Amino acid sequence: DWTTGNVIDEQVAAIREQVGDRRAICGLSGGVDSAVAAALVQKAIGSQLTCVYVDHGLMRKGETEQVEKDFVAATGVQLKVVDAEERFLKALAGVSDPEEKRKIIGREFIRVFEQAQAEIIADQGPAVEFLVQGTLYPDVVESGGGTGTANIKSHHNVGGLPEDLEFQLVEPLRQLFKDEVRMVGQELGLPEEIVQRQPFPGPGLGIRIVGEVTKERLDLLREADAIAREELTAAGLDRDIWQCPVVLLGDVRSVGVQGDGRTYGHPIVLRPVSSEDAMTADWSRLPYDVLARISTRITNEVRDVNRVVLDVTSKPPGTIEWE
Ligand code: XMP
Repeated sequence: DWTTGNVIDEQVAAIREQVGDRRAICGLSGGVDSAVAAALVQKAIGSQLTCVYVDHGLMRKGETEQVEKDFVAATGVQLKVVDAEERFLKALAGVSDPEEKRKIIGREFIRVFEQAQAEIIADQGPAVEFLVQGTLYPDVVESGGGTGTANIKSHHNVGGLPEDLEFQLVEPLRQLFKDEVRMVGQELGLPEEIVQRQPFPGPGLGIRIVGEVTKERLDLLREADAIAREELTAAGLDRDIWQCPVVLLGDVRSVGVQGDGRTYGHPIVLRPVSSEDAMTADWSRLPYDVLARISTRITNEVRDVNRVVLDVTSKPPGTIEWE
């Protein structure tokens, strides 16, 4: 019988058997998959697990706090948070090209994560042999079913570490679909905001600012995005929408009139889409009154934003994200 309770019991037993009395590391992204995988492993082996969260400064409003406070409170997991905002902003300074941004964010992420990993290993001795990953069933099928090990090249000179560390993978979600992962997460008592979170790209808001990524622009976008999410949730639309990227056109300005003065601010784009699997998508026909509320609030509450536009493009030809 498939019940979340059975899945949890089975996986907890399997993880205990696999890991024994050794140690594991898990990277948390703020997303549902890594959170549920970590919570399962935590339930199985407790303090033998250490989680790592790299705060790249590109998260939406409140998301880092959700991981640092709510997730930790719900699971009791040991968490190492690396505040790498400055490092990421520095690496992204002056860069506008989308692919370039993605490469930089990916590269910095791996460096910061590996360094955190090396520090944990230096702290806890050589018994860290497992890396937890939130691989789902569709990922397994797509990649041909292979499993096994991850080679983590360590460029960091931490005393006594081998050049090339080999981790065995722990993948407790390999048999599950996304909706099942959410049910398991709920059963494990994870915060609703994490369990029901819509897809969000790894490079975060870094690829939702057209043009250079700066702290000021990120703060503007975070405010606008928070308003859009709040209103969509209040209108009960979260289940109808696959996701709704909110994009700041950082390199575009348009004239507006706010109060009794002319303004010259940035437009914000709303990109609500419906989809089954993100491979194709249709633009969501949101109720006009909801769009009106989002627009009014963003232009009233977010300094420097004087225009809100709606993206009415399907995928294809448009991708869901703008970059
Ligand atoms: P596109 O823009 O290609 O997006 O239509 C399809 C889905 O993938 C998400 N996305 C990403 N997810 N890392 C991720 O983890 C990424 O670099 C990335 N880029 C896009 C996007 O949000 C959508 O759900």
